[in-house]
Parts: sequence; structure tokens; C-alpha cells
Amino acid sequence: YFLGSCSPPAPGEAVMLNCSSPTTPALLEALAPVFKLSSIRPVSNISTPTRVKVEFIMFGILGVDEKSQLLTTFIWQSLVWNNEFVSWDPEQCGARRITIPRKYVWVPDIVINEFMEKNNAPPVPYVYLYSDGKVEDDEPVKVVSSCRLDIYMFPFDTQNCTFSFNSYKLLGEIFESAWEDDYRFNVSKKVMTTMGEWRLIGLSVKKFEFAISEADSYQELRFYVTVQRSPTMYVVNLLLPSCFLITVDLFSFLLPPQSVDRSLFKMTLILGYTMFLLIMNDLLPVTGNTIPLMNVFLSMCLVLMVGSLLETIVITNLLCGLAHQSPVPWILRVIILQFLGPLMLLPPKPKKKEDTVIENPATRGTICDSLSIDADRVMKTNKERF
Ligand SMILES: *[C@@H]1O[C@H](CO)[C@@H](O)[C@H](O)[C@H]1NC(C)=O
Ligand SMILES: *[C@@H]1O[C@H](CO)[C@@H](O)[C@H](O)[C@H]1NC(C)=O
Ligand SMILES: *[C@@H]1O[C@H](CO)[C@@H](O)[C@H](O)[C@H]1NC(C)=O
Repeated sequence: YFLGSCSPPAPGEAVMLNCSSPTTPALLEALAPVFKLSSIRPVSNISTPTRVKVEFIMFGILGVDEKSQLLTTFIWQSLVWNNEFVSWDPEQCGARRITIPRKYVWVPDIVINEFMEKNNAPPVPYVYLYSDGKVEDDEPVKVVSSCRLDIYMFPFDTQNCTFSFNSYKLLGEIFESAWEDDYRFNVSKKVMTTMGEWRLIGLSVKKFEFAISEADSYQELRFYVTVQRSPTMYVVNLLLPSCFLITVDLFSFLLPPQSVDRSLFKMTLILGYTMFLLIMNDLLPVTGNTIPLMNVFLSMCLVLMVGSLLETIVITNLLCGLAHQSPVPWILRVIILQFLGPLMLLPPKPKKKEDTVIENPATRGTICDSLSIDADRVMKTNKERF
């Protein structure tokens, strides 16, 4: 029905049928000899190719399975070709077109090469037969097609899948598209109902011809279906929480290192993040060949958190553990302070008039035992010493 307005494929010498009266039974009676010819391609000279116009409207994008590399779509497929054995006078027979069961006429042997599953859309048993011999076969097809998915940029990825329409057995068929790419795309966008997380952004077609031998060639019509993932769900559910947790982890360096709080806090954060990744694991695509950039990002977040926990452990160890170490040897102090300092272009520390040594109470071991600072007490002891 979609292609009803387009001109019929080049008609050959059509056989004119004669109806006894302008009624459907009379037309059917006149068509009876034609129905007997349904098993052969409807051309009188077998070297005449049958031109089949192939078109489809994309009605729904049902999903993409990254693991098995499948794209599932629902299309309305339309095929139009010419039957040279039929033509009648619409006035004499009383009808411009009739519907007849598909098994009564020859239908092209057409397959989509990428088909991975049987078409389980509802079957349409009828085709249209026009008075000039044009036959139109429209049916819904649920296309489960294999498609090389590139998920490196997940969730900002665009997939370009191919539907290659060709004939599996017959050589005498020529496949053509009937519409401009823009028209097909716009109609599809208008009728599209279910898109899920995918948006249709392109539907273009290219024709290919492969020579099998000198005489024979093989026709293929490739439709490129370009779909884009809408990333909002993944940004809100995966990216933003990860960024927030990393920010919190960075800000936790503001907590006092002497207290246990910081390492405990970081540990809790790592635990929480691991739980978060476990829960959100279903959202991430799984394939064998490429790792999405997103997975690398999530792993890096975890690595950063673990790194900052390690850093906290090292800092705590430096603060508490060094108090029990023996003092730095005199020669090492001279080498580092007198020679290495100027070598690294560090300015010498300005000498103060009253050079007093303030002993850090932390090094006396009291803090690390209690692991908390009583700021007032420290101030008081320092004042007393002065
Ligand atoms: C139909 O009638 C025309 C003349 O009116 C005749 O030439 C033609 O052969 C007839 N067709 C058939 C199939 O009998
Ligand atoms: C069939 O078509 C071929 C090529 O167009 C031509 O050479 C041949 O003579 C035709 N055969 C008949 C019986 O018309
Ligand atoms: C999809 O891929 C085909 C072949 O690789 C290419 O010709 C076509 O331009 C691509 N379409 C888009 C929208 O990238």
C-alpha cells in the first residue's frame, strides 16, 4: 500500500484477460489460468529480469544486544514487482486491484542476509494484484539482525547496522529502492512508536552488484540503519554518582589524618562504591572484543579510591610510626640539607633570631596512643615551655 503511488516497474508484453462481467467472481474466473503459473517467475522470456522494488519503513527499534551483537527492529517491508502474465481492463472487470492469497502468485525469493532469527511478526497472507500486472506484497517483519556493534564510546555510541536484501537462489531478480533516503527516514520517524533508549538518526541505501561469472551477476541492496543511544539514563545512574563519590573521597583529605576517621571514612566509601558497581553492573554492556571507555572510567574511580586509602595509611604510619624510630644519622642530615637542598634550587630557610625548638607532642607517642589531639593541651604545654 505504501508504494501504491509509485510507478509500476517496466511492464513487458502483458497478457490481456477478458472478464464476462464487471464483478469479482468473473475477475477471479478470468485469473484462474494465471494462478496456475505461480511457480515460475512471471516473465515470458526467462532472460528478462524481474525488477523488484524493495522498501521498508522502520516502525520500532526494540533493542540492541551487545553480548550477541544483535539489533532487533520491527519494519514494514514492501515489495513491488511486475507480473507479465496478468493485466485487465478495470472497467470491464470492475476493479482496479484485488487482494489474492500470496500462494497464488509468484513472490520474490528475498532474504535479509543479517537475519539471525525467523521472522515471527504476524503473517499477512494476501498480496495486491493491480490491473496493469503490478503485484504488491507488504508485510511486517521483525528483524533480528546481526550487527557489528562498536561500544567503545558507550553510552555515547552510535551504531551503524546493515540490512542486505538479496535473493538467496534466483539470479533473474534486480532489486531497487523506490524512495529517496530522506523520505524513508522522515516517514519512519513519523510512524516510529517504540524506540526505547535508541534514536533513529539515519536510513540510507546503497546498491551492490557482484559478478559471479561473465553472464551472471548477483544483486544486493544494502540499507544502513544508524541508531544512536540516548545517554541520559547512564549519565544519571552511573557517571554522576561515580563523580560525586570521587569528589567526596578527595575532600576527605581535609579530615585530620591523625584521627582514625579518615581511613575509616575512605574504607566505607570504597565499600559503598563496590556495592554501587555491583548493583549497576547490569547496565554495563558486555562484549568479548572491546572494553567500553566507561568501564575503564569506573575502574579508575575505584583505583583512585584505593590509592587514596593507601596514601592515608602511609601518612598515618609516617605520623605515628616514626616516633619510635632512631634519629636520622648526622651525615645523612648534612647530605640532604646542605647539599641536596641547594642542588634542587631550594632557597635556604631564613634564619630566625630566637631559634627555639618546639617539640611536637605527636612525636612523644601520646597522640598515636589516643589518636586524637587536644588542641588546648598542646597550646598550654607549649606556653609553659616558653
Ligand atoms: C481477450 O479479448 C481480446 C479481444 O477482445 C483478445 O484479443 C484476447 O486474446 C482475449 N484474451 C484472452 C486471454 O482470451
Ligand atoms: C529473450 O531475450 C533475449 C535477450 O533479450 C533475446 O536474445 C532472445 O531472443 C529472447 N527470446 C525470445 C524467445 O524472444
Ligand atoms: C554506515 O556504514 C556504511 C559502510 O560501512 C557506510 O557506507 C555508511 O556511510 C555508514 N553510515 C553512517 C551514517 O555512518
